[in-house]
Amino acid sequence: MKAVEIREPGGPEVLQLVDRPDPQAEAGELLIAVKAAGVNRPDCLQRQGAYPPPPGAPDIPGLEVAGEVAAVGAGVTSFSVGDRVCALVPGGGYAEYCTVHETNALPIPAGFSFSEAAAIPETYFTVWHNVFQRGGLKAAETLLVHGGSSGIGTTAIQLAKAFGANVITTAGSDDKCQACRDLGADRAVNYKTDDFVAAVKEETDGEGADVILDMVGGDYISRNYDAAAVEGRVVQIAFLRGRVAEADFSKLMMKRLIHTGSTLRARSINFKADIASELRRKVWPLLGKRTVAPVMDTIFPIDRAAASHSRMEEGDHIGKIVLDIG
Ligand SMILES: NC(=O)c1ccc[n+]([C@@H]2O[C@H](COP(=O)([O-])OP(=O)(O)OC[C@H]3O[C@@H](n4cnc5c(N)ncnc54)[C@H](OP(=O)(O)O)[C@@H]3O)[C@@H](O)[C@H]2O)c1
Repeated sequence: MKAVEIREPGGPEVLQLVDRPDPQAEAGELLIAVKAAGVNRPDCLQRQGAYPPPPGAPDIPGLEVAGEVAAVGAGVTSFSVGDRVCALVPGGGYAEYCTVHETNALPIPAGFSFSEAAAIPETYFTVWHNVFQRGGLKAAETLLVHGGSSGIGTTAIQLAKAFGANVITTAGSDDKCQACRDLGADRAVNYKTDDFVAAVKEETDGEGADVILDMVGGDYISRNYDAAAVEGRVVQIAFLRGRVAEADFSKLMMKRLIHTGSTLRARSINFKADIASELRRKVWPLLGKRTVAPVMDTIFPIDRAAASHSRMEEGDHIGKIVLDIG
């Protein structure tokens, strides 16, 4: 099969198209003939050598795919050859074939192309777990989501609105802020010109945000404590401004905040299966009606994987970048 491998840690140019042996479906697994694969920021970190694949995962990058089931391993009961599926994979997505445990795959929602479907799993699994399970966001509460125009952010805005929450978001340009409002955000703050803490206070009559989804870290950590409501939950999913920070923890204590975080990739098949089954019950019907849908930025052919990473690292994208694998 054709696959994109990381020749050595480095810039986008180290991604190269190579021939690799086809993977085989083991017991409980699907072999997917991949038609499209999502590109995510963690793929760029892996390419740079900063995010190694967990033990047992392929070295080929790519955390989400959509395609057709080409073969099934022993004991598979939920899918058959020819089914259209999308899946969260621990690696190996940038390739013509990829294996996944059947419980970590979901049917492609009706009416979605392979490219759109490949843009679903990583952000929907991440947002569902971190905003709803870990953060416990409820209807009528306020979510503050940083990086609102990112793959993760565009999903968080739509899901939070679909479940009846108010949404405030930050983004790095007026165009990105407008895109967030177009997706339903009640307020979008250009963090380069405005103070998000003041905006959250204004928008919530001084109460603050109940849940904060943060991929920024650094100086945002202390400011998140300022922006949070009493009994607020701050969920950390990345540290684009740095993983080491100084913060005034008396705010955490006085407001009885919970500051938590998680990372999805290294979690067990069973853990991801539980998220998949909740998504199927609670979110797949919304995708089926297009109440929520991935925001598509650019689709690159597989032989332009390097360009897809450059696009992500330049930071002008809004929503998801996808590789077309044919
Ligand atoms: N923990 C997990 O399980 C998990 C799973 C998936 C992804 N993630 C993480 O979630 C983040 C988003 O992933 P993605 O694939 O959606 O990537 P993405 O689309 O590239 O999003 C990154 C976002 O961060 C914003 N940003 C970048 N640098 C910033 C800074 N210094 N200050 C403030 N904002 C900044 C960017 O836009 P603007 O600056 O222009 O607003 C952009 O919206 C990544 O860091 C990724 O590693 C974590």
